[in-house]
Amino acid sequence: MTRPRTSIHGEWSSRWAFVLAAAGSAVGLGNIWKFPYITGENGGGAFVLVYLVCIAVIGIPIMMAEVLIGRRGRQSPINTMTSLSEEAGKSRRWSLLGWSGVVAGFMILSYYSVIAGWALAYVFRSGIGMFHGADADQVAGIFSELLASPERLLAWHTIFMVMTMVVVARGVRSGLEKAVRFLMPVLFILLIVMVGYAMNTAAFGKGVAFLFSPDFGKLSRDGVLIAMGHAFFTLSLGMGAIMIYGSYMPERASIAKTTFMIAGADTLVALMAGLAIFPIVFANNLEPSAGPGLIFVTLPLAFGQMPGGSFFGTLFFILVVFAAWTSSISLVEPAVTWMVENHGMRRLTACVWSGIAIWALGIGSVLSFNVWSDYTLFGKTFFDLMDYLTSNIMLPLGGLFIAIFAAWVMKDADVRDELAIVNKLGYRLWRVLVRYVTPLGVIIVFLNAIGVLHAG
Ligand code: TRP
Repeated sequence: MTRPRTSIHGEWSSRWAFVLAAAGSAVGLGNIWKFPYITGENGGGAFVLVYLVCIAVIGIPIMMAEVLIGRRGRQSPINTMTSLSEEAGKSRRWSLLGWSGVVAGFMILSYYSVIAGWALAYVFRSGIGMFHGADADQVAGIFSELLASPERLLAWHTIFMVMTMVVVARGVRSGLEKAVRFLMPVLFILLIVMVGYAMNTAAFGKGVAFLFSPDFGKLSRDGVLIAMGHAFFTLSLGMGAIMIYGSYMPERASIAKTTFMIAGADTLVALMAGLAIFPIVFANNLEPSAGPGLIFVTLPLAFGQMPGGSFFGTLFFILVVFAAWTSSISLVEPAVTWMVENHGMRRLTACVWSGIAIWALGIGSVLSFNVWSDYTLFGKTFFDLMDYLTSNIMLPLGGLFIAIFAAWVMKDADVRDELAIVNKLGYRLWRVLVRYVTPLGVIIVFLNAIGVLHAG
């Protein structure tokens, strides 16, 4: 298999378009919904610290590796792995990495779409003023009523899946680039407004302390794994999403610089979401460990009390939907490009089939919040299991092999050529990180989680 010089699926119009699209993929429910709730479940500060360290020493080096592999291969992750392993004279089995990414992407999107559906439902609930003047019990009641209805959850999940597949079908460049350009800045400004609101609650200091003063006694071994898994999830790493986006990247753009911008924006948004949410949690005596519903039972409370709250609330949930939308498309893009390349399918046909498969899998998550809530495996519902398997096992494993591929399998000259880091020291630092630090880091966190490092 020869390596094409440009992608048959198109190319971003500029380096900025790549940064915006990749940041659009990275910034999503992971930042606004998941980061606050898992931080709350895992005790706060120490968890946040481990997450930040993982972003810096594991996430950023792997993101550079994933982008460079993608840009050199210029095809779907499956075919990219095949042609680059041939180029390096190694086994074609590396394409399995592309396959596991396709599976992980389907699994993630199946439940991601259900949660995005909650946000869609909340656009309307805020819009009609349902939260106006509501107290904590009423807000919690509105949320549990939504979860109790499988039909409603399914309807919203269906709408979100259709939205996602429509954009993917049009090709990543046409619809997407334009939307992201405008929406990301608006989301950012609205988050600043909300942090401003949180600053005026009496519990701002408590919220800040919860996020930033580490108490390692509160962090379990599983918590460390969840923090690392989230570093992969939030940066969209380990399944080929960033690889396929890299394959549309212009030849001359700097991979290191763009990666720093994407990871920086993503981390900033997550921390701001935390700063907006935890003061509200403490000011209203809510539980930080409330679980996946955390933002849906805290933020409406704040919106219900602030002047113009119905307006801001509606705007906020619209932006959450858009953040989720620009992320969800990257979860199917690897599969769709493969179907187009290998089966000569039209993009639209590929989208219909993958959309249906993911939608059907999502029904499991829909039911896990109501009818199936008592069916658990290892104490986890269907939704929990999908999330745990992907974020904490499949993505870190995918990332581990991506690092090994870039650092040990590809020829140093090829990697150097693709990265084109002018700064020699910078290149060496990256190389030491992906060769040793990153793989070892992932392995140690895995071993730690299964208790191997805690004999006796
Ligand atoms: N990063 C996105 C978020 O934080 C989710 C996401 C999009 C993702 N594409 C991905 C996660 C690929 C893992 C892999 O919401």
